[in-house]
Amino acid sequence: MNEEDIEDANNRVKQVDDNNSILPPITRRSTMKGAAATGASSFFASSMATAADNTNQSESSDRTLVDTPPMGWNSWNTFYCDIDAGLIKDTADAMVENGMKEVGYEYICIDDCWMASERDVNGNLQPDPETFPNGIDAVADYVHKRGLKLGIYQSAGTTTCEGLPGSLGYEEKDAQSFADWGVDYLKYDNCGEHYGLSAIERYTRMHKALEATDRDILLSICEWGDNDPWMWAPEAGGNLWRTTGDIKPLWSAKENLWGNGIIDIIDQNEPLAEYAGPGHWNDPDMLVVGVDLPEYPNLTEAEDRTHFGMWAMMAAPLIAGNDIRNMSEETRNILTNYELIEINQDPAGNQAIRIQRTTGQDGLSRSVWAKKLANGDRAVGLLNRSDRRTTITTSAQEVGLDEASCYVARNLWNGTNWQTAGLIGATALSS
Ligand code: GLA
Repeated sequence: MNEEDIEDANNRVKQVDDNNSILPPITRRSTMKGAAATGASSFFASSMATAADNTNQSESSDRTLVDTPPMGWNSWNTFYCDIDAGLIKDTADAMVENGMKEVGYEYICIDDCWMASERDVNGNLQPDPETFPNGIDAVADYVHKRGLKLGIYQSAGTTTCEGLPGSLGYEEKDAQSFADWGVDYLKYDNCGEHYGLSAIERYTRMHKALEATDRDILLSICEWGDNDPWMWAPEAGGNLWRTTGDIKPLWSAKENLWGNGIIDIIDQNEPLAEYAGPGHWNDPDMLVVGVDLPEYPNLTEAEDRTHFGMWAMMAAPLIAGNDIRNMSEETRNILTNYELIEINQDPAGNQAIRIQRTTGQDGLSRSVWAKKLANGDRAVGLLNRSDRRTTITTSAQEVGLDEASCYVARNLWNGTNWQTAGLIGATALSS
């Protein structure tokens, strides 16, 4: 994507306005915010806009541990097992210094491989003595002193996915260790033997064990959507649950590499909107914005924007997976786009609904997404998943706004505002 593409796309947005320049007198004027992720090297563009109808104020829900989607960072997507206390502490420092904490990122999560290969003689988990020599509690202290929270990983089976000791049969012991160490968030995976126990039973066991401690620990269920967790996870005490297999920095898995691409995940997560809400979230996996892996093609900047924009629209947890100690300005700008974060963290907790999907005569696939916000505004996403430029349009009515003679839209990537009688659109570019 280049500057010219962005300009062009934005001009088209304005042109849409121009086409409607004979606007009826403004009898009712609303504010409308929006975002546009425009241009892609060869794939897509998207734009987002929100509009207000000044009605339908959503009721606020009960406050819970995660009344908005959790935000943070996790070690897995970039570092896999190559982790140690230094990385976690440096990442906490970076989150404070690079502006991520300021816009809401909070959890620093250690994924698989933090533990020693054996439990101690009393059956307690122990941190790997080489990589976490001072224990997890020392790391938790460090993270807490910076106003952040600590996440950790375990598995509801006999082993973790990397073959280290799992928590099945040790739930109470392990939950107590996490509480004693000062852990705030548990990502609970599904690897190892299950001894015939159902997922709901295994996850409920850990939830009860966490509840029995005197510490609030958020439970992130990670069974990859295998057992339809959206049907039972809230009952099993899950605050969020993975809806898909692992994400990789790919546009689509058709590239024959292991894992799911962004588009694959959007498709899998889309029908689950009704299950998301304050305290219980669909988790389409952690972000791969700015993730740089030698074995994957990685995402272009425009793809990264679409990924972040769509995760914001889907009320997905925003858990960065890149090396935030050392990221480009483009990546930082995407991860800290405050207006998109506000869409993600909107208190109504609605996951965007796909309200339009078309494949035109030109064979291009376009979709329009709308997310109702607590104040009655709509966030709107225009997603072009093809490799050709195309114009995508919708209307204030289609995104669910009440009738008004004029709406004000705002592009959340570049801050442009414009007025419209109801038509919302953008040209989605390819390079
Ligand atoms: C599974 C999870 C990943 C990661 C790894 C760790 O694959 O889905 O997110 O936690 O295990 O081994």
